Amino acid sequence: MKGVILAGGHGSRLHPITLGVSKQLLPVYDKPMVYYPLSVLMLAGITDIQIISAPGDVAGFRRLLGDGSSLGLTLTYAEQDKPRGVADAFLVSADHIGDDSVALVLGDNIFHGPGFGELLRSSARDVDGCVLFGYPVRDPERYGVGETDAAGRLVSIEEKPAAPRSRLAVTGLYLYDNDVVRIARDLRPSARGELEITDVNLAYLRRGKARFVELGRGFVWLDTGTHNALTEASQYVQILEHRQGVRIGCVEEIAWRMGYIDRESCHRLGRALAGSPYGRYIMEITEDRAAGVRGAAS
Ligand code: DAU
Repeated sequence: MKGVILAGGHGSRLHPITLGVSKQLLPVYDKPMVYYPLSVLMLAGITDIQIISAPGDVAGFRRLLGDGSSLGLTLTYAEQDKPRGVADAFLVSADHIGDDSVALVLGDNIFHGPGFGELLRSSARDVDGCVLFGYPVRDPERYGVGETDAAGRLVSIEEKPAAPRSRLAVTGLYLYDNDVVRIARDLRPSARGELEITDVNLAYLRRGKARFVELGRGFVWLDTGTHNALTEASQYVQILEHRQGVRIGCVEEIAWRMGYIDRESCHRLGRALAGSPYGRYIMEITEDRAAGVRGAAS
């Protein structure tokens, strides 16, 4: 399975912050925002990943993550010349996807919860159609909204409905079989002028091939699209990390725990960042005595 991170857009709701820097490179507490969606793909077992961003921003992502080899990944970069919609990702990344299945994650979505790694790995196995992840929110009208029947099967999806049929937002993480590229090629822009991911998902739903996995209580899904949401996401990460002494979205740790790199290589990555608590954390967890004590990637 290939991975795609969609990290373009104007970030206009965060102006003026995003006039000088890509939204997905902004800090969410102690690390750049893009580390969180990257962690999700890594935990799903995906190592061949393309990052899509606006033309002027590719250099920043490349400076941060390079070719991915230090994390045991293959990272490539693609430009989206203007924000044509989330589903445009499959057209921009068509060559990268090739004949494979694909996981798309939005570059401003943060997921965290117990057992998420295992859930991802099992959901990504042999995708036939698509797998969508639902999450109950207070304000579903801001999102794609999924409605399920009594058996939990998906029966409708609507993009930002004025009168939502449920509280279940369709989160910005999507798993597809290879048909998604053909489906995206046939899309027409919506009333707001975008190629809608919801239209892709509806095409799968009509074929009876849309699985809906509900992320329940105790799970955290945050987006970071507004000043308040960005601050809240940072506060969440800060509180959790400070209380537990673990880091979430630490791509170096995940690379090591997933077996993409060995302990010594991970330790070296930490040493290169030893001036920060983030770097020292990586060094600490990969020291002989501590290795394995703090729990596996989840
Ligand atoms: O966050 C989940 C929601 O994401 C879903 O529930 C919706 O169904 C889906 O349409 C999408 O909602 P938005 O339309 O609000 O997404 P937004 O325009 O904020 O774009 C999501 C991210 O993708 C954002 O970081 C910018 C980036 N993006 C967006 C577009 C439209 C691009 O890189 N290129 C684009 O063309």
